[in-house]
This record gives sequence, C-alpha cells and structure tokens, in this order.
Amino acid sequence: MQLAHSITMLPDFRWLRDFASSPFFSKGASQAVTPVVAMEENQAAAPDQPFYHESILLDEVVESLAPAEGRIIADGTLGGGGHTEALLKAGATVKGIDRDAEARLYASERLASFGPRFEAVAGCFSEISQLAAAGKWGSLDGILLDLGVSSHQLDAGERGFSFRFDGPLDMRMGEEGHTAADLVNTWGEAELRQIFWDLGEEKSARKIAAWIVQEREKAPFETTLQLADGIEKLIGRRGRTHPATKIFQALRMEVNDELGELRRFLGAAPDLLKIGGRLAIITFHSLEDRIVKQAFRDASKAEIDRPEWPAARPNPDLVYRLLTRKGIAPGGEEISRNARSRSSRLRVVERIATPAA
Ligand SMILES: C[S@@+](CC[C@H](N)C(=O)[O-])C[C@H]1O[C@@H](n2cnc3c(N)ncnc32)[C@H](O)[C@@H]1O
Repeated sequence: MQLAHSITMLPDFRWLRDFASSPFFSKGASQAVTPVVAMEENQAAAPDQPFYHESILLDEVVESLAPAEGRIIADGTLGGGGHTEALLKAGATVKGIDRDAEARLYASERLASFGPRFEAVAGCFSEISQLAAAGKWGSLDGILLDLGVSSHQLDAGERGFSFRFDGPLDMRMGEEGHTAADLVNTWGEAELRQIFWDLGEEKSARKIAAWIVQEREKAPFETTLQLADGIEKLIGRRGRTHPATKIFQALRMEVNDELGELRRFLGAAPDLLKIGGRLAIITFHSLEDRIVKQAFRDASKAEIDRPEWPAARPNPDLVYRLLTRKGIAPGGEEISRNARSRSSRLRVVERIATPAA
C-alpha cells in the first residue's frame, strides 16, 4: 500500500537547478525526496542528488492517453508536472489541475516553455466539470489522475505530512478544511480508531487511538514529531518502516477526503470525455484501487444480471470500454529503481458511445 511520488533523475536538470535556488525549493532541494511508505528504502539512494522526481509509469501513461497535436488532456493531479510534461512533449494541450498552490507554481515554472498549450488550474479534481465549463475546455481527449501526494509535499516539513521533519500537524494539500491536528485533538476515540483501521489498515489502531485521547488531555498535539515520536514510543519499531507510517497515511487521506474526491471525480468523468477519449488512473492504495476497478467494471459491462431476473439486461450505465483488464503494474526495472512505484496500478478506459435507450 501507499503512496507518493517517484524518483530518479530526469535527464535535464536545468529547470531544477534554477528552481532549487528559488524560495519554494530552497528546502526541498537539499533534502531527500521520499515517499511515506518505503521511505527507508529510498533514503539510501537519495542524499547525494540535488533533487529528483520521476513520474510513475510514465511511458505507460503516455501510451494509454495517446497525446498528439490538437488533443486536449486534463491532468487532474499536476504535482511536479512530470506526466504533464511528457504529454506536452508529444504535442497535446494540457490543463493541469492541482489543489496545491505550490505545486501549480512549481509546474508552471517548469512547463513555461510550452506556452499556451499548458495551463495550471487551481481546484480539486472532483470539481473537474465546473473547471472545464469555466475554462471552456470543450470535450476532452484524455484525463489523467496520479493519486496521492507529491514528493514536494512530503518533503516539506512545514506542510505537516512528514514524520521525519518536524512541522505543524497540518497535512492539507490545499488551504481549506480541517488539519490533521484538528482531527487528532477533537475527534472521539472510536472515530480515530475507525480511520486508523479503515484508511491505514493499522493493526494497533485501538491502542494508538486510546493513547492519543489520553495524551491530548495533557497537551494538544501540534507537531508532526510530537505525534510520530509518541507513536514510536508506544508501539516500538517494526522493521524498517516507521511505526507512524500508517497513522500518518490515514490522517492524510481523511484530511484531504481522498476517497470522496475520487468517487465524485469518477461520477463526473464520462460526460467530459469525447467518444474515443481515454481516462487513465494510477492508484497506490488498495482502497482507491478497488474503487477505480469497480467503477470501471460497472461502466464497461454490456449487460447486468441478477438472480431474480429471467435474463440479463443491457447495462444502462455502459459508457466505457476497458483497456486494462488487470491494471498495469510497473516492471521490475522501475520497481528496482523506485521502490515506491511497487504498489502502483494503472487502469485505463476508453469512452464509447452510450447505447440508445
Ligand atoms: C502524486 S502527485 C502527482 C505527480 C505528477 N503526476 C508528476 O508526474 O509530477 C499528486 C498531486 O495531486 C494533487 N492532488 C491530490 N489530490 C487532489 C485533488 N483531489 N484535487 C486536486 N489535486 C489533487 C496533490 O496536491 C499533488 O500535487
């Protein structure tokens, strides 16, 4: 399970050198870029490199979305702009959505040379219909989601995602909504236990929730290390993975309503795509992968059947053709280069004409 962004040197670092000296990246450039899970594995490979970021399943995404001149693609998770850059290089026009102002700023610098073919758009991907209408994008040839948080977000202690760097216990990708500190300091023990179990699949969910409720009576949780170090003392180290990994993951997913965002997006996507347009989604977490797999399956079955029916009936929700039955996993070479890609899956569908009722 889980999450974040990938790793390895891009062939051309000129933009990064410039950006690394900008205020936005002055911190990240000097630190290893590491994901939440598999963090330890990547630490060894990272420290000597100035900054690196490689998009996961890059070739597979480009092949799936078939970018070309005149095609319009929405990248709903712009992040560092790696996937978007590859789509732009292939000639497409790309609308890059991100709820994180820093990501938009960074990607805009990186992709400035593509001129009007690239636009960074503020918002959540669940609002893609409204964003497309406001921007007069018309029907899309492709949409990409590369779920989770970026290396930049994880690496900046002040964003509060990291259990390695101290910072306020925030974890919001955007600027609105409750912070992780709000949840930890105000939610009931049962609610905390539930998200630690459901979103983090944390075996010690019960023990950690009880400890949090007890500890916050003495002083509220304010910083990432206050929580991470406390969890480590409580349950001890299990192997190389930090014992707070799954709790941080669960809090981050809840704070950003990541599964809700995905479900709302999936409902909106078919109406935005041209016939023949493609939707590609990279997941890193079993829960989000299940949601995508199920939604794609439900919308690509020609018929549905129920035991109480005399015969199968045409599926009224048929809008897609499934292009990846099992999902595309990274190859051995990508996994050995970037441990974080290990849990990723790319699923792709193509919009088809809706059968006449
Ligand atoms: C994994 S990174 C994307 C990396 C990018 N594909 C690349 O190659 O550089 C995910 C990005 O999506 C953004 N994001 C996550 N959920 C979002 C949502 N619901 N709406 C808009 N942006 C979101 C995050 O802020 C983050 O910058």
